[in-house]
Amino acid sequence: MPGMNLENISPSFRLFTLAALIVLLSGLCAITTRAQADNNSLPHLVTENGRHALIVDGAPFLILGAQCHNSSAWPAMLPKVWPAMEYLHANTLEIPVYWEQFEPEPEKFDTSIVDTLLKQAREHNVRLVLLWFGTWKNGSSHYIPPWMKSQPDKYPRIIGKAGRRVDSPSPHAPATLAADIHAFSALMRHLKAKDTRHTVIMVQVENEPGSWNTVRDFSPEAQKLFTGPVTAELLQALGTNAPAAGNWSEVFGTNADEYFHAWSVARFIGQVAAAGKAEYPLPLYVNAALRDPLTPGPANTYESGGPTDNVLWIWKVAAPAIDLLAPDIYQNDSARYRKVLELYSRPDNALFVPETRGSAQSARMCFTALGQGSIGWSPFGLDYTKYANQPLGASRLTEESLAQVALNYKILGPIMREVARLNFAGKLQAVAEEQGEITQTLDFGNWQAVVSYGVTRNGAPKGNSEPIGRALIAKIGENEFLVTGAFCRVDFKAASGGQRDFLRVEEGGYEKGTWHPLYIWNGDETDWGLDFSSAPQVLCVSLGTY
Ligand code: DGJ
Repeated sequence: MPGMNLENISPSFRLFTLAALIVLLSGLCAITTRAQADNNSLPHLVTENGRHALIVDGAPFLILGAQCHNSSAWPAMLPKVWPAMEYLHANTLEIPVYWEQFEPEPEKFDTSIVDTLLKQAREHNVRLVLLWFGTWKNGSSHYIPPWMKSQPDKYPRIIGKAGRRVDSPSPHAPATLAADIHAFSALMRHLKAKDTRHTVIMVQVENEPGSWNTVRDFSPEAQKLFTGPVTAELLQALGTNAPAAGNWSEVFGTNADEYFHAWSVARFIGQVAAAGKAEYPLPLYVNAALRDPLTPGPANTYESGGPTDNVLWIWKVAAPAIDLLAPDIYQNDSARYRKVLELYSRPDNALFVPETRGSAQSARMCFTALGQGSIGWSPFGLDYTKYANQPLGASRLTEESLAQVALNYKILGPIMREVARLNFAGKLQAVAEEQGEITQTLDFGNWQAVVSYGVTRNGAPKGNSEPIGRALIAKIGENEFLVTGAFCRVDFKAASGGQRDFLRVEEGGYEKGTWHPLYIWNGDETDWGLDFSSAPQVLCVSLGTY
């Protein structure tokens, strides 16, 4: 007010004005999420109405992860891991525990590296997903301790159709099973004792199990089982059309070899998982080397026996202690990527992507996964150890090559609790740009959100020069939305036919579950729609019509 002397205003009036300003700024979009529960409950998965959440510290948690390279879990290499995690703003590190290190002599366990990981993860304020490199690692068993490797008859590999040994562990070897159960139980027991703060939120049991270069084991032990009756549990899962009994060929015909191997591998790992879970019931998962989701081909063209999409049902019956089966998605084309996400998100299987490419173009698929209800997403090989994981990873990992993944996590990190909660409640949709699809429309009932890519001020969208756009929109009230994204424009259309009016657009963030607006967008920032670039910005948008 002209001529108004602030010094003449009474302190109580000043307090009132301040309070009014706070109310005004937190106005229409002031949503309060359930405060982040600070209880110390065990991480676990919950499922409601076919949707899933990973509960950590009592509230839904979104894994914004990074997996290090295979040989990066040694203390000497960890200094090359943490800087990448920091740059990425990742909240979870996926890192192996090597059986060869953990049990250097039979029944003598070396927990020193696990303890180092716990300590350093806490210092860097990240959670851990531990990867048990046990009997299987990428279909082989290269991580079993040397004392096992030197007894190949006791801990055998499988035998291919031509009678030659194949470099893949036998799922029919009682000594291997007993040893794995023993070691994995020791690991889980140790975590229970040492990780009272729940730094470890999930454990992967084995790594990409199954076998390359043979559909199954043809050893005499395996042949005996293969020509014997299919187990009643599996027949029951087939439902009413299943034959009353029969051997594997009689029941499953041309799929018999693969189904038998899937059952055998899953049964083995299910027992390892159950034993570990009895010690300490953290969420457990198994990752899959995928088959082509659109044109799969025969089982000898992919890793047979692992949790590929066609045998998820067998894994569910054979390994109930495994909470979820997770796809390692290295597919480059997005039609295949999206198909995989669809195949692994089921009412009985929470979607989690534990491995994927960390390239600029792949980064956007984090949003596609979220749109499919994912509880987490984690590219592989993101550390500075200088291993060039080509052609699956970058030739050189630099901040520049990691920038798009880092942008995801800068956007999503501060709102990850809200994103996980809204996704669990079915209120969230997220999309990524597809080549040639420059506009995508998301239906929220009374409103449609229109996402477009490659926009200029008031011009038509043309698509970005490479498809890196992504957007996330959640309905938080009848006419209110949480909106964020990168390299895209978001606008809204009213189902009523009225013209969209931005009542209020606040940029801000959440603190302990409460929305805090920073400032209000208007003018150029809203006249053509809500534009997101490479800046991590989160908006609360309140809509009306005229
Ligand atoms: C998938 C495996 O699970 C990883 O451990 C790693 O070997 C990558 N493939 C390839 O680098």
